[in-house]
Amino acid sequence: MKSVNIGICGLGTVGSGTFNVLARNAGLINARAGCDIKVTAVGARRDNANCDTSQVSVERDIFALTRRPDVDIVVELIGGTTTAKELVLQAIANGKHVVTANKALIAEYGNEIFAAAQKQGVCVAYEAGVAGGIPIIKALREGLSANKIEWLAGIINGTGNFILTEMRDKGRDFADVLVEAQVLGYAEADPAFDVEGTDAAHKLVILAAIAFGMPLRFDAVFTEGITEIQPEDVVYAEELGYRIKHLGIAKQREGGVELRVHPTLIPERRLIAQVNGVMNAVMVKGDAVGPTLYYGPGAGAEPTASAVIADIVDVARSIGSAAENCVSALGFASETIVDPGVLDINDIESAYYLRASVLDQPGVLSSVAQIMSQRGISIEAIIQKEPRAGASDVPLIMLTSATREKNLRAAVEEIEALPSANGPMVTIRLDSLDA
Ligand code: HSE
Repeated sequence: MKSVNIGICGLGTVGSGTFNVLARNAGLINARAGCDIKVTAVGARRDNANCDTSQVSVERDIFALTRRPDVDIVVELIGGTTTAKELVLQAIANGKHVVTANKALIAEYGNEIFAAAQKQGVCVAYEAGVAGGIPIIKALREGLSANKIEWLAGIINGTGNFILTEMRDKGRDFADVLVEAQVLGYAEADPAFDVEGTDAAHKLVILAAIAFGMPLRFDAVFTEGITEIQPEDVVYAEELGYRIKHLGIAKQREGGVELRVHPTLIPERRLIAQVNGVMNAVMVKGDAVGPTLYYGPGAGAEPTASAVIADIVDVARSIGSAAENCVSALGFASETIVDPGVLDINDIESAYYLRASVLDQPGVLSSVAQIMSQRGISIEAIIQKEPRAGASDVPLIMLTSATREKNLRAAVEEIEALPSANGPMVTIRLDSLDA
C-alpha cells in the first residue's frame, strides 16, 4: 500500500475532530482509500487541542507544513481569509494538495486559488466548507453531472437554523440560544457571520458555481440575516401554512442568475420545512432527475471532520494519477466556465409575505387592494385581526403572487404612504419550492 502523509493546520473544533476520527477509524479509512494515510505533522500556534498529538510532530510555525517533504496534503483548518490564503497559496506553490473547510476562503478567493492549483497540477478540495457533513459538493459535482441544474435552495447555516428552531419551539431568547450555539462549537468565530447571513452567502456562492458552471461571485450575492425576524410573523406564517427558514437560493433565469440569502416563508408540507436545529438541507432541482434533497448536520466537530476526511480520501486516491483525470475544482473544465451575470435584487422574481399595521376604518382594505391590483400583484391570502382592546390599529397580513421585487417595493412604498398606514411594512420573501 502506498503511504500518503498529511499535515493538519489548526487544531480547533474541526482540526481536533479530524485528528480524532482519523485515529479512531484508521483501518476503515485506509481500506477505503487504498493507501496508508498518516498524520505526520500538525501546525498549531497554541496548545488548545482537544486530541492527543503526542505521537506527531507539532509545528508552532504553521507555514512549516507547506515546506515539509513528509507532507503530501496540507489540511487547512485555521479559518479566516488572510493567513489561510497565504498558507494555501504557499502549499500549492510547493506542490502540496490542499483540503480545506474554509468556505470564506473559497467563496472570496477560490477563482485565484483554483487557477494556481491547476497550474501546479494539485487538487484543492473543500467539501467541508458547505453544509458540514452533507456530501453536497460531491452530489452536485459528480452525482448530478447529467443535469442542467435549474435552481437550488438550502438551509446552509446550522447556527441560524438552531436559533430559529429554538425560538419557535421553546420561545427562547435570540441571544441566549446564540450563546449555546457558540458553546456547542456551531457558531463562527464572529457569530455575526451566522446571524447576518455572510456564512450562508459564502456557501451559496460555492454551490451556485458548481451547479451552474460559473465563477465564484461573492461580490454579487444579496444577503439579509435573521436578526429582524419578529415572533408574531413566525406565528402568522404558521397560521397560513408556512415556516420561516433562512435560505440560500440560486436560480437560473433568463438574463442571469439569482443569488440570494434571506429569511423565506416555505410551505410547511415541504420536507425541507421539517429541518430543525443545527441540521442543514439543500434542495436541488435538476432537469433530468427532478427535485432532490440532501440532509444532515451542518456544523460540529465530527460531522465536519467526516467531510474533511472524505476529501483527504479522494485526494489520496488520486495521488499518482494525471491531474486531468481528477474531478476539476468546480466540476466543469475551467475553459467552459462562463459568468452568466448575477441579477440585482430588484430584478428577482418572488412571492411575498407582507404585514402592515393599518387603521381599523372603512375603505382601508380596498385602497390596499387597489394599489396591489394596479401593479398586477395578486393577493393570494389575507388575514386581518380584530383590533386589540383600546387599539385603533389592526395587523393586515397578505401573501402575494410572484412579481418583480422592484414592483413589490413600489407597491409597499405606496401602501406605507397611505394616511391609514402606520409605520413600515414587514416584507419577507416566499418560495413554494415547487418542482
Ligand atoms: N457556523 C457554521 C454554521 C458552521 O453554523 O453552519 C459550519 O459552516
